[in-house]
Amino acid sequence: MANQSVTEQVKESVDIVDLISEYVDLEKRGSNYLGLCPFHNENTPSFNVNKEKGFYYCFGCQASGSVIDFYKEMENLSFSEALRDLGNRAGLKIKYKQESINSKDLQLIKMHEHLVDLYHEILTETKEGETALNYLLDRGFTLEQIKREKIGLSPNMSDGTIKVLEKLGYSKEMMYQAGLVARNEETFQYFDRFRNRIMIPIKNHKGRYVAFTARALGDDHPKYLNSPETDIFHKSRLIFNLSDSYKVIQDRKEVIMMEGHMDVLKVKGTNIKNVVGTMGTSVSKEQIEILKRVTQNITLMFDGDKAGKNATTSVGEKILEMQANPYVISLPSGMDPDEYIEKYGSESFENYIKENRDHFILYDAKEKLKDSKDNDLMFTENLNRSIQLLKYVQNEVEESRILRGLSDLYEIEADLIKRQLPKRKEVRRQKETFHRPSILNVTSREFKERHIIHTFINDKSALETFKSKLDSELFQTEGYYGIIKNLVEYFSEFDTFDKQMFLSYIDHEQLSNLERILDTDLPILGESELNDYVNAISGMSSSSGEKNKLIKEIEQAELIGDDTRALELFSQLIELQKSPKSK
Ligand code: UTP
Ligand code: MN
Repeated sequence: MANQSVTEQVKESVDIVDLISEYVDLEKRGSNYLGLCPFHNENTPSFNVNKEKGFYYCFGCQASGSVIDFYKEMENLSFSEALRDLGNRAGLKIKYKQESINSKDLQLIKMHEHLVDLYHEILTETKEGETALNYLLDRGFTLEQIKREKIGLSPNMSDGTIKVLEKLGYSKEMMYQAGLVARNEETFQYFDRFRNRIMIPIKNHKGRYVAFTARALGDDHPKYLNSPETDIFHKSRLIFNLSDSYKVIQDRKEVIMMEGHMDVLKVKGTNIKNVVGTMGTSVSKEQIEILKRVTQNITLMFDGDKAGKNATTSVGEKILEMQANPYVISLPSGMDPDEYIEKYGSESFENYIKENRDHFILYDAKEKLKDSKDNDLMFTENLNRSIQLLKYVQNEVEESRILRGLSDLYEIEADLIKRQLPKRKEVRRQKETFHRPSILNVTSREFKERHIIHTFINDKSALETFKSKLDSELFQTEGYYGIIKNLVEYFSEFDTFDKQMFLSYIDHEQLSNLERILDTDLPILGESELNDYVNAISGMSSSSGEKNKLIKEIEQAELIGDDTRALELFSQLIELQKSPKSK
């Protein structure tokens, strides 16, 4: 298949360690690289990258794949989009079939790119743009900012945009699908969606223009008109300004989220660059999921009004539930970040941010306490709420910091609050049992092969003793013999098994097998037991009727979970093996 080779080409040309390092701090461990997994929340690193074999693997959540899979997950792309982007990055000339959806998306993007330039020109270079330009300058935006952000003005006509795009060869239907024109569903007449509005371009996470948010000049309604949902613009997945702030967010290990596009643009003009915008006040789980991959620390800086407060509460809760760390910077009543900067200046704003960041749980407690200082009933209710929220906090240091804060706020001892929390160990153990494969739906043969390999992993000398007997006939479960070979290779260099080290000896396809074997909660077999096992499975392959019958029965017993019966049958089988001499 042609695609196969493109995939291989991309895998070869993009260094997986380089790419993943853009998202995760990796440290070299032996021949692997190790870091904190971006796909689940953890404090100790279990995310491995194998440079040579070109795959990543997390021992904590089993996430795994190639460089393309990684990029696809991180950027929320389809496989072919990820392939295309990485291919471009590596400078590969990849040919795509013309009729693919991608080429249509590309056309929609090209329309936006063209209009961004056009609108920007109208705003900054024409007489028609003067009023709007002055409005922006009055609001405290510099010309430099306006140019950098490519802010524009849409023509005050019902078909200005249509005409321009028509000249470029786009059909009205395409313009409609791009969300750039609207249509009357009765007369099927098309007209410009955006008329005489300040056009703020919206980029997707890769920096391509995919939509607009358009502010009315003066008091027109609605104040902001946004592009509708299209093939290239998914509101619940897009975060405003993420493509520009990505790197700084990573460096600062914090993202500050605001409600308004203007707020984000204005704040970007200060020294605070790690800012993004929601697309209004509702924040989706997907958006949090995306941010979490860049940083766990999400600071909400919503407007200082009732709506902003409500949004802070619901988004803060959502972030906690999703196991990230929400912080809040609440603004003086009635202000948004843009207004703060206009009134007090950039420097004051930067200080305000430094000095007013609270963990969400503390912010929340303060807000609630404001209304209920003298009301005992409310007091208890609020305390309970804080405790419930605190249960989500995974990090012990963070927990104790919040505990101290709560203790001050509620004026009760921290220990008293702490006692209401579940014991840490219990929570952890619960997490570890997740995804443990059951042994019950495994055939008797596979189970034994697994038990044998499990023993070898833990006992190099046993492997050496049995080495000559081990072949592909003995290990019939797919991939298991491969692991045996890898183990032999590995132990020729090392004396003890280290799963991180071992990763460089196996192929990606083997990961799930290895995981299954490592996950086997079985005792290490002694030499004579091993002998029995090896004989048993070699007996299974040389199928005599009686043995087969026994094996079937064993499988049945295992399937219904009757371990005692299975064991009993198994010892019968071993007896059977002993009588005729095996090879
Ligand atoms: P605000 O009403 O707080 O506007 O809406 P703003 O950001 O302060 O705008 P300026 O400073 O008056 O220019 C906050 C956000 O809510 C969404 C927009 O995303 C806006 O940035 N919104 C608001 C709309 O989508 N449509 C509207 O009509 C109003
Ligand atoms: Mn505002």
